[in-house]
Amino acid sequence: MKIFIDTAKLEEIKQAYSLGILDGVTTNPSLIKKTVDELKAKGEKVDMESYIKEILTLAKGTPVSLEVIGTSHQDMVKEGKRLYEKFNPVASNVYIKIPVNPALDDKSEAAFDGIKAVKELSDAGIPVNCTLIFTPEQALLAAKAGAKFVSPFAGRVDDFIRTNHNISFEKTDYFPAEGTKKEEKLLEDNGVVSGVDLIAQISEVFNVHDITETEVLAASIRSARQAREAALSGADIATLPFDVIRELLMHSKTIEGMNKFVGDVVEEYSELVK
Ligand code: G3P
Repeated sequence: MKIFIDTAKLEEIKQAYSLGILDGVTTNPSLIKKTVDELKAKGEKVDMESYIKEILTLAKGTPVSLEVIGTSHQDMVKEGKRLYEKFNPVASNVYIKIPVNPALDDKSEAAFDGIKAVKELSDAGIPVNCTLIFTPEQALLAAKAGAKFVSPFAGRVDDFIRTNHNISFEKTDYFPAEGTKKEEKLLEDNGVVSGVDLIAQISEVFNVHDITETEVLAASIRSARQAREAALSGADIATLPFDVIRELLMHSKTIEGMNKFVGDVVEEYSELVK
């Protein structure tokens, strides 16, 4: 499974790339807001264009997703092309992120606009990451429209199931991949029992139907365990916040073992090694 970093923070991207294990970057308007707010709070001026160019240069050779902000087919296509034309020449690694359905309410006519935009941009040779996926069928349509990545939001599925059943939780609380029961009943969202289950179902649909041109990019991952479960469920990629990448390396017995090794070094061995 490839690992992307889910952030717009340059420092985090720099540090993660220095490990030599990173395969890409994903951003979205909320992550960009978080970064801009932080920079402004430090009194720094933000030159967004140079900032994004720096991210692209750092990530050279690996994909960087930049999201549109429009909610109509025309706006998303216009913005997607604009972003691609402006930024892809920097390092040839821009993917355009398009919401699968940009409607702001159930009745909106915009329901088809995401898929239309995915299709038009893909047909124009622009790689698309289709985002805000919450059902296998959304992922299927995005793949049919030519998306290179589909992004199921695993953590938010878990949030949705817990909220709908009045279960209180913190954003990073573990939610079992196999779902959870309340009053003996398995909780679900229209047949999806957890965010990891959504990833598994999408992977299965893609396998059964031999969909090979679209990769499953597990997003909204809040813990190392969820990242592991995404890998076990067939995700091709997981995009992880910086802290989750760090958490992938954590185990108290590793730390305990290190302390023991460091404490047990004898001079004779040390002289040889140093
Ligand atoms: O990649 C999507 C991600 O940024 C959303 O994460 O934790 O806010 O649901 P989260």
